[in-house]
Amino acid sequence: MESEQQDTNLEFVPILNHLPEIYHDNNGEVKQKHEGRFKNLKDRFKQIYGVVPKYFCRAPGRVNIIGEHIDYCGYSVLPAAIEQDFVMAYVLNEADEIELNNIDKDQYPAEKISTDPFQKFKEGPHWINYFLCGYKAVLAIDEKYYSQVTKPRGLKIMIDSLVPPAAGVSSSSAFTVCASIVALHANGLETKIPKGDLSKLCVLAERMAGTACGGMDQTISIFAEKNQAKLIEFNPTLKAIDVKIPASVVLAIGNSLTPSPKLLTLGTRYNKRVVECRFALLILALRTGDISHAKEQKFKNFYEFQKHLGYSYQQMLELVSSHLQKGGYTPDKVKKELGIDDLTDLLKDIPYANEVISQNYQFHLFERAYHVFGEASRVYEFKELCDDETLDEAVKVQKLGQLMNDSHKSCRDLYDCSSPELDEITQLSRDSGALGSRLTGAGWGGCSVSLIPKDNLEQFLDKVFTYYTKEREPGYQLWITDDLERYLFATQPGKGACILDPQYCLWM
Ligand code: GLA
Repeated sequence: MESEQQDTNLEFVPILNHLPEIYHDNNGEVKQKHEGRFKNLKDRFKQIYGVVPKYFCRAPGRVNIIGEHIDYCGYSVLPAAIEQDFVMAYVLNEADEIELNNIDKDQYPAEKISTDPFQKFKEGPHWINYFLCGYKAVLAIDEKYYSQVTKPRGLKIMIDSLVPPAAGVSSSSAFTVCASIVALHANGLETKIPKGDLSKLCVLAERMAGTACGGMDQTISIFAEKNQAKLIEFNPTLKAIDVKIPASVVLAIGNSLTPSPKLLTLGTRYNKRVVECRFALLILALRTGDISHAKEQKFKNFYEFQKHLGYSYQQMLELVSSHLQKGGYTPDKVKKELGIDDLTDLLKDIPYANEVISQNYQFHLFERAYHVFGEASRVYEFKELCDDETLDEAVKVQKLGQLMNDSHKSCRDLYDCSSPELDEITQLSRDSGALGSRLTGAGWGGCSVSLIPKDNLEQFLDKVFTYYTKEREPGYQLWITDDLERYLFATQPGKGACILDPQYCLWM
C-alpha cells in the first residue's frame, strides 16, 4: 500500500468548524463530553474576563507507539496523537499584556506577563515557561516570520488541559504547540507559518527552555490525523507519513502513576542520554578512521554518521560492539579516548551539558548506542508490517506486539529509562492479554502503551485494573481519587492541532 505523505511546508494549521472534526464520536461522546467542556471553558472565561471568548485553539498530547529516544539522534519515530488536549480560549486585549488563567486555578494560579516576545523565561520549572516557549516560537525565533508583526497583540487567555502532566504523553509540547497557535492566530500569521516550520520553531523554543528534545512531540501534535498513526521522518527532510494500525487491535494507555518531570532531572536523565549519544558518536567517528570527524564534529548525530558510512542498522550494531565498551566510561576515560582535555567544547549545543558533566561519573556509551540502532530499525520493521497487506492479520499483530516488547526491553536494559512501576504495568499488561506493551515517551515513570486485540479489550482493562488496587508497601500506595478512566484507557489516533472557527464559538 502506498502511504499518504504530507509535504510538511505546504499546509497550515487548519481552522475547523465542528467538534466532531476533532474528536471521535463514540456513542455520542462529542455532545456529552466535549461540548460540555467547551461550554464550561466559555463560562469560566466570561466569569473572569467579563466577555465571552472569541477563539479557541487546541493541541493534543501524544502516545509514542515505537521509536524511543532516537529522534534526537536523527531517526524516525512512530507516534499518534491522543484525544486528550490543551484548549486555550482567548480574546485580544487592548492593554499590552497577556493575562493567563487556568481552569485548574489551584495548580496554576493566574499570571500576567508582558507582550515582549524576547522576555526571559522564569527561573525554575514554572508552567508559564511552556506558554513562553510557544509564544517565542512564533514571535522571537525566525525573523522571517516575526518581522511581519509590527506589534504583538495583548491577549486574555483561559487554559484547559486534559493531558496528564509529567506522564510521558507530552503535556509540555501540547502546551507549547497550543500557545504557539494562539500566538500565530492572534498576530495574523496563521497563513504565513506552515506546519513544518511551526513544529521546528516549537522544538527550538523548547530547547531554549532547557530540554535537549528531538522533534517527535511537537511534530505529531501539529501533524496528527484522526485514525492515523504517523511515521515522522526528520531526515533528510521533515515528513509525516500515514501508518494504519491493523483494524483488529487497539492501543491502550496505562499511567504508572509515577510522574517524571523532565525539567527537574535534566542533568541525570534526559539530557544525560543526549550527551551519552554524543560521546558514543564521537568515539565511533574517531575509530572508523578520520580523526577530523570527531574533532570537527562533522556529524551532527548518528543518522548523519550512518549515512556517511552507508551502513545498515545491523552493521551499525556490529560497529558499536567492536568499538565501544560495555559498563560505562568515566569522564576521564572519554577524554582519553578522544584525546582531548575538555569535554564541554563538544557539547556546546546541548542545554545543561555542564550540569550533565558535573552531576555524573559514568556514561554508558555502548548500551545507549546499541539501543539507538536497534530501536531505529524496529520503527521501520513496525511500519513495514503495518503496510504489508499480504500478511495474515493474526501473524502481523503478533509481530507488532513482539517489536513493542523488544523496544521496552531495550529501553529498560540498555537505555535505562524504565522504572519498577513501568516494568510492572507493562508485564501485567502482557499477562493480561496484550500482544505487546512498552513504556512510552521519555520514561523513568509516566505511561505504558499496549497493543490489545479489540475483542479482548474489556477483559484486558479489568485485569490491568489490579495494578491500581493492589496492596502495596506503606508509602508506595497508589492513590486514585477520581475516575480510573483517566489512568487506564483505550485510545484511537486523534486529530492534530487546530483553531476553531469563531462562528462556532458564537453559536456555542
Ligand atoms: C521526550 C522528548 C522527545 C523524545 C522522547 C523519547 O518526549 O520530548 O523528543 O526524545 O522524550 O523518545
